[in-house]
Amino acid sequence: MVSKFFTSLVSLAAVLGANASLTRRVACPDGRHTATNAACCALFPLRDDLQANLFDGGKCNAEAHESLRLTFHDAIAISPALEAQGKFGGGGADGSITIFSHIETGFHPNIGLDEVVEKQRPFLQRHNIGVADFIQFAGALGASNCAGAPQLSAFVGRKDATRPAPDGLVPEPFHTPDQIFARIADASSGEFDEILTVWLLTAHTIAAANDVDPTVPGSPFDSTPEIFDSQFFLETQLKGTAFTGRGPVQGEVQSPLRGEFRLQSDFAIARDQRTACEWQSFVNNQTKVQQMFQFVFHDLSILGQNIDDLVDCTEVIPIPRPLTTRTHFPAGMSDRDIEQACLETPFPTLPTDPGPRTGVAPV
Ligand code: HEM
Ligand SMILES: *[C@@H]1O[C@H](CO)[C@@H](O)[C@H](O)[C@H]1NC(C)=O
Repeated sequence: MVSKFFTSLVSLAAVLGANASLTRRVACPDGRHTATNAACCALFPLRDDLQANLFDGGKCNAEAHESLRLTFHDAIAISPALEAQGKFGGGGADGSITIFSHIETGFHPNIGLDEVVEKQRPFLQRHNIGVADFIQFAGALGASNCAGAPQLSAFVGRKDATRPAPDGLVPEPFHTPDQIFARIADASSGEFDEILTVWLLTAHTIAAANDVDPTVPGSPFDSTPEIFDSQFFLETQLKGTAFTGRGPVQGEVQSPLRGEFRLQSDFAIARDQRTACEWQSFVNNQTKVQQMFQFVFHDLSILGQNIDDLVDCTEVIPIPRPLTTRTHFPAGMSDRDIEQACLETPFPTLPTDPGPRTGVAPV
């Protein structure tokens, strides 16, 4: 899988290079932009509207986080295994979560997503774009506001859903690694193995929980939820010492920092012998954080769609600001606090933030 990835990276680079020199840009009707394809023109005003009015002037805010989460919950709802049993398996990245929000946001793993769906809906209504394309675009754009993020791909031309996805296809934080690996492999027809599942979970570097324990909304998964860095991979390997919120709730385990929320699924995949070394390898490797998430988001965002029918409008997504921080142990912590799970490679040597032990604030 990994070597296939690098081969496709090389050929992708070749194609991009060839396109850049051969393709003539078209002028958009707004008179202000040019694009490689006229189909991308509608995305410029949508981008500016979302940046100004959903993402608070281009911030990595809670709506940016929720918009990225929504891309996953729309796309992952597809199951060749159900189809093989003669049942409808969902359409993947087909917009069904928004089109049939009255059904799908009622599914247990989609708890809380009704909010972002309704916040996004007015933008969808005042711009000329399909629902499936809109969801993936908003997620890629929201992530671009987080320093350190890769430029995520944006395509248009997806077919919108005509029926809701069935329940039971979105992973839950109380599922075992086996259950999660099996579900993600099924959704991707085997492409996303357990290693690529780790790559997908990079998204949790700009994330918080609102509804797993509703008494502590906005509890982040790492100490830097506005930065697309590798702190999440480091902090999930620290020893858990206390529950954030009202105590153990289903899908939660103890976290190492006051106010930080730890999902049982992240905890378990960080320590599973199939994935622990891959998890650790992201710590302090920003190139890897960016490249691997960029790669898996591309494929996630088109699940159930035919790439040959889509137009690549990634150029509309701003290049995110680079990281200006270094991977570090939170104040008062060091490698003594690491619960070493990878047996092959020692944990990287990293600096500790100055000052006394602190907690993290809700986002
Ligand atoms: C594979 C197993 C996964 C599980 C079990 C899982 C579970 C969860 C849970 C329980 C939350 C907190 C929801 C809440 O209480 O508000 C969450 C948040 C989030 N997830 Fe995941 N997730 C998974 C994978 C992913 C993937 C692949 C992505 C993106 C591509 C993603 C993106 C996010 C984001 C951005 C948030 C933060 C939302 C916010 O801050 O409001 N997750 N996830
Ligand atoms: C970072 O990850 C990349 C991609 O997997 C790898 O080629 C590189 O060797 C890693 N760098 C370090 C310092 O480990």
